[in-house]
Amino acid sequence: MGGEPLKSDQSFEEVVVQRRSIRRYQDREVPEELIVELLELAKQAPSSMNGQPWTFVVIRDAETKKRISELKNRFCPPEKRSFRAEFLSQAPVILVVGVEKSRSYGRELENGVLATGWLLLAAREKGLGSVYMSAYQPHDPGLAVEIGKLLHLPDDVQAVTILPLGYPDETPSKKELRPLTGMLHHEFYGE
Ligand SMILES: Cc1cc2nc3c(=O)[nH]c(=O)nc-3n(C[C@H](O)[C@H](O)[C@H](O)COP(=O)(O)O)c2cc1C
Repeated sequence: MGGEPLKSDQSFEEVVVQRRSIRRYQDREVPEELIVELLELAKQAPSSMNGQPWTFVVIRDAETKKRISELKNRFCPPEKRSFRAEFLSQAPVILVVGVEKSRSYGRELENGVLATGWLLLAAREKGLGSVYMSAYQPHDPGLAVEIGKLLHLPDDVQAVTILPLGYPDETPSKKELRPLTGMLHHEFYGE
């Protein structure tokens, strides 16, 4: 089993620093209660006009997971073909994060992405691994349309992200971080 030792008393800083993308999962079921705990945290995220527009679809069915991984590969742009999505079908759970357009005030992407960020951190805190995967890109909505069909999403619901969830079975290599000095400016850019 990989991953940092997991403690239930991690500080916020530890959760943020230790969260990494996990693409290999143990062959171990993720209890529904844990998923519900994650979702209770995710729905605390800010949302445009406090619309709280989220829809979460929890997928455990092997065939549906396989279809999602195939769709993700099919709609992958050529320059990103090295990022294969087969691992999605190995995840015990796939969570599709969507938003109701009628509650999104034109901010579908932002609303969905923020809840996703909350979910990624909450997953780490609860000992689960995940990785951000886009379902929706405004300039190329094909994947979101196909996911919507597959999951029977109503027209008003927009899939935004795809999050595999499982107990980690890998330890990612160290991530080099760009120094803050190259990102930080005071008052004006370049200062
Ligand atoms: C907008 C976005 C799209 C991403 N798409 C993919 C993807 O299609 N496949 C994948 O394996 N990881 C994807 N990732 C995960 C990134 O590769 C990962 O966050 C990055 O390499 C940094 O590593 P870390 O998450 O371990 O810190 C995506 C992340 C973001 C924010």
